[in-house]
Amino acid sequence: MRLLVLGGSVFVGRAVVEAALGQGWEVTTFNWDRSGRGPGGVERLTGDRTDPAGLAALRGRSWDAVVDTWAGRAEAVRESVRLLAGSVGHYSYVSSLMAYQWPVPRPLTEAAPLRPPSSGSRTEDYPARKAAAERAVVEVMGDRALLSRPGLVLGPWEHPGRLPRWLLRLAAAAEGEPVLAPGSPERGIQYVDVRDLAQWLLHAAGRGLGGAYNLSCPPGHATMGGLLDACAEVTGSAGRLVRVDERWLAERGVVPWTELPVWVPAEGEGAGIYDVDPAAGIEAGARYRPLAETVADTWAWLRRIPAEKLGRAVRTAEWLPAEREERVLRAWREEEAVRRAR
Ligand SMILES: NC(=O)c1ccc[n+]([C@@H]2O[C@H](COP(=O)([O-])OP(=O)(O)OC[C@H]3O[C@@H](n4cnc5c(N)ncnc54)[C@H](OP(=O)(O)O)[C@@H]3O)[C@@H](O)[C@H]2O)c1
Repeated sequence: MRLLVLGGSVFVGRAVVEAALGQGWEVTTFNWDRSGRGPGGVERLTGDRTDPAGLAALRGRSWDAVVDTWAGRAEAVRESVRLLAGSVGHYSYVSSLMAYQWPVPRPLTEAAPLRPPSSGSRTEDYPARKAAAERAVVEVMGDRALLSRPGLVLGPWEHPGRLPRWLLRLAAAAEGEPVLAPGSPERGIQYVDVRDLAQWLLHAAGRGLGGAYNLSCPPGHATMGGLLDACAEVTGSAGRLVRVDERWLAERGVVPWTELPVWVPAEGEGAGIYDVDPAAGIEAGARYRPLAETVADTWAWLRRIPAEKLGRAVRTAEWLPAEREERVLRAWREEEAVRRAR
């Protein structure tokens, strides 16, 4: 197979490149080569996808399949799918559960409505851009278009830094230091390991599979408590996870997902992200490795990154600041003492 990866140097695209090379595929990457982080062993083409003339390097070339990880303005996807339609067999777009109209029907199947049509321009939000990019791919490629919709992607090279936030927080905790664990430990979570997502994309491309698929591990595969316990174990954390009620946290303005990643309360508009029906993908060949493997391999990757390069490898700055976590935990402890005394 000759595969073109539009992207290929950060996280999802990188995993696709590595998996494809592992299967002996010939891989070409196309990106603007700013990060200089792309894996070796590939043919590298460069260009700026936000510039209409930027796709020149793709002209007159052909591939069996394309994987496109673009998350910016939909116009870039529209341009590339139009350019490549006649010279590629299959076009795979890495979309997102965010492309659905939220709040979503639960459980969330692929039959749920998408966001209303829009141009997906630079000024529109991420969900609108994803939905518009999906439509652009299907419009041109028809049943040769594959839309993969993950909700949360974890694993090595996770640049958004969600699992790394928990690993690094627990690894840094001093002896007996309380670490805020939001919500019930039994709260189910659904995600896909980036390597399973990559295998799925190749599997689908190899079979010429078309259509839309949710890519989230099945309900029951993992819990929030299981994730945090696995992080504590793999890092040998000296800290102590303190479970804090999620309604109480919300009342104090602690923001799920953006301040404490992976955590999405069981109630509220976003809850559907962990009520996803992944049956169609599984039926079509998607596989989900155990949580412990994802956590251990992500930690192994993080440990290899020199401290001075960590800030570039993962987004670390925006999570709940340490002093705020401390304050919240102090308030929780004090209120608990009052509750116990009653
Ligand atoms: N993380 C999650 O939990 C999650 C959940 C749902 C969906 N998703 C989707 O998964 C995808 C993640 O993709 P990724 O970032 O990991 O993919 P990636 O393919 O590994 O990296 C992004 C690529 O885009 C290239 N790029 C950026 N701006 C460019 C430009 N103007 N012209 C040409 N190339 C450009 C980058 O090149 P340089 O490296 O040279 O800058 C890089 O190769 C996104 O579409 C996201 O919406 C993620």
